[in-house]
Amino acid sequence: MNIYINNNLEFHLQNDKISYIFKVLASGDLGHLYFGKRLNHKEDFSNMLQVFQNQVPYTPEQIDGVAGFALDSLKQEFPSFGSGDYKEPAYVVLQENGSRVTNYKFSKYKVYSGKPSLENLPHTHVSNENQAKTLEITLTDSTLNSDIILTYSIYKDFSIITRSSKIVNHGEENLTLERFLSFNIDLVQNNYELLNLSGAWGRERNITTTPINQNKVSIDSKRGASSSNNNPFLALKGKGANEFQGEYLGFNLVYSGNFIGQIEKDHYDHIRVNMGINPFNFSWLLKKNESFQAPEVVMCYSNSGLNTLSQNYHSFYQNHLIRGEWKNKVRPILINNWEATYFNFNEEKILQIATKAKELGVELFVLDDGWFGERNNDTSGLGDWWSNLQKLPEGVEGLSRKINQLGLDFGLWFEPEMISPQSDLYKKNPHWALSTPNRKATLSRNQLTLDLGREDVREYLYEKISKILKNSKISYIKWDMNRNMTDVWSGVLENSCQGEAAHRYILGVYKLMDQLTTEFPHILFESCAGGGNRFDPGMLYYMPQTWTSDNTDAIERLKIQYGTSVVYPISSMGAHVSAVPNHQTERVTSIKTRANVAFFGAFGYELDLNKITSEESLEVKKQIKFFKENRELLQFGTFYRIESPFENEFQKVSWSVVNKEKSEAIVGVYRVLSVPNPAFDFIKIPGLNPNSKYIIEDEDVLGEVFYGDELMYSGIKFKKISFGDFRSKIIKIKKL
Ligand code: DGJ
Repeated sequence: MNIYINNNLEFHLQNDKISYIFKVLASGDLGHLYFGKRLNHKEDFSNMLQVFQNQVPYTPEQIDGVAGFALDSLKQEFPSFGSGDYKEPAYVVLQENGSRVTNYKFSKYKVYSGKPSLENLPHTHVSNENQAKTLEITLTDSTLNSDIILTYSIYKDFSIITRSSKIVNHGEENLTLERFLSFNIDLVQNNYELLNLSGAWGRERNITTTPINQNKVSIDSKRGASSSNNNPFLALKGKGANEFQGEYLGFNLVYSGNFIGQIEKDHYDHIRVNMGINPFNFSWLLKKNESFQAPEVVMCYSNSGLNTLSQNYHSFYQNHLIRGEWKNKVRPILINNWEATYFNFNEEKILQIATKAKELGVELFVLDDGWFGERNNDTSGLGDWWSNLQKLPEGVEGLSRKINQLGLDFGLWFEPEMISPQSDLYKKNPHWALSTPNRKATLSRNQLTLDLGREDVREYLYEKISKILKNSKISYIKWDMNRNMTDVWSGVLENSCQGEAAHRYILGVYKLMDQLTTEFPHILFESCAGGGNRFDPGMLYYMPQTWTSDNTDAIERLKIQYGTSVVYPISSMGAHVSAVPNHQTERVTSIKTRANVAFFGAFGYELDLNKITSEESLEVKKQIKFFKENRELLQFGTFYRIESPFENEFQKVSWSVVNKEKSEAIVGVYRVLSVPNPAFDFIKIPGLNPNSKYIIEDEDVLGEVFYGDELMYSGIKFKKISFGDFRSKIIKIKKL
């Protein structure tokens, strides 16, 4: 890993896998040269700069008298607005005279070992300085006396560059940021397509691909959460690329609020990619000596398919994003009462569910929504964070003790960011909810959003939540958030600063999460937002797992988990076996298939196990035994997507995990719909050692021994999986 600086001010970040090269242009702007597979270092890369030899027709030239030097035709690193580049800029700074024209030019650089933290924002980190190197570039607008600092880090063992940007106002006048993105990159067109993760509630993170023409495509969220509609991730997919081959460039924003990610192809076939806080309804006042830090973006490169890109993200996030005691620990098998009871429970009912769960081998009981205030349905109680003694006579404290006595750990649900108009909290502090003056705020799920940008709100929540955590025996928290933002207006901001409210809210959420996760390091935190409405790296920094979707249907989960795995580690995906007919789709699948899908995640159950048949109980016991024996591999092994639910008419889906030593693998195979007179099913199992001998533990290929190369390149065939809808099997492969 190295950062080279050439005499002509070219910067080359290089490790064994990738190179990232850019330079200071003659105009003082930064020109992008290359991001991709590792290149040998040399003293001059200016050949990569595409400066026209002649005048560019009718295009403003940045340096007087130098024909061809036009920003509109040059690949750039952090483009400005107002001096000749007509594509989307990385930033727009409004000045007191009404101008938005700026000239931030290169002024200095700094290189150092390690990776800096980002103040008040989630960020990737290293445990020692030898794991990364960092380059900081300062651009200065001397008229404004203001700096932009671009930070680039390269890591020892990953095909990953992280970038972020910061602006500082040293001048006398107030500046208003109307847009300040995290990064920009201009690439040479390579017949790329856009790949992103789109969806909705219950259909989160479907893989979507879109051709890129001479136009602009954007993904974004204005919902106040990163959203299930568009995850803050996009990738450029090279022509012909697939899971196992071809080029992918991924970009993932470490942020949980409104964002934008844009792809713009220009008239010279350059592709501009940028990402950051959504400029829509955003502005930020920067007074003298103030600075603004934009969130970090994690850029990843693969030239051996999408699986390699994902594996890099998984292991990078596992090592350099997720923090705390639970980072590398296998997760407990839980039972959650939400789909078992919804709001309709009492202590007796809960203890019945927990007792049966314990009998079958479950390790953690999680009490979901409905345990506090007057919360008997979703119209009331949010904000009143004290036990409902009608349901729980000895409160959460007593229940947690009783659950512990059964031999189970105890977990609890909160939805801290919300307030019900029917609550004690709202009676006392109606002004704590986001709402605009003289207008009725819009309800969603009968609730309003608390203004987490307010210190008094955060203090109240901290006090209430920490009291319960201190007084009860709690080892897990589910932090839910069940509506998108509307009526974004904060009572603690000047009228002219209301464009800051949505971002200040997210900073407030981060602050509170940081406080609670630091103070209670033994607790396993899981974030959630009406299912997977906020499944992003920002949340994973504070909480190592996220509830993937409210949709617990095994067949739907194939798509959701497959898409989520493009970026996020398997250990981070909450995945539960629920009752049938499924509550979201009414589909009936076997308890076996439900578990075979949920095994690839933070595994648990979400039903009343007293209501299943005795055969199913036996099956659950077996499942729990299998999961306990294999959870290290299932949650932390190298994950491969093999057959996609988005590509093969949804008939067959498969994926696998392999351990580091390549001595054990588990394959999940799912036949969605039955096919008459089926051909033999083959499956090729990736990631093994070609020269090792493996034995297969499967009913179709009993005890047969294969070399790794045969399994990887020829594959094994099955018979039984083809019959019946929603069938599945798990195959265990072991090195002899
Ligand atoms: C939405 C979550 O995704 C569910 O799992 C459940 O916790 C409900 N909220 C409770 O209101």
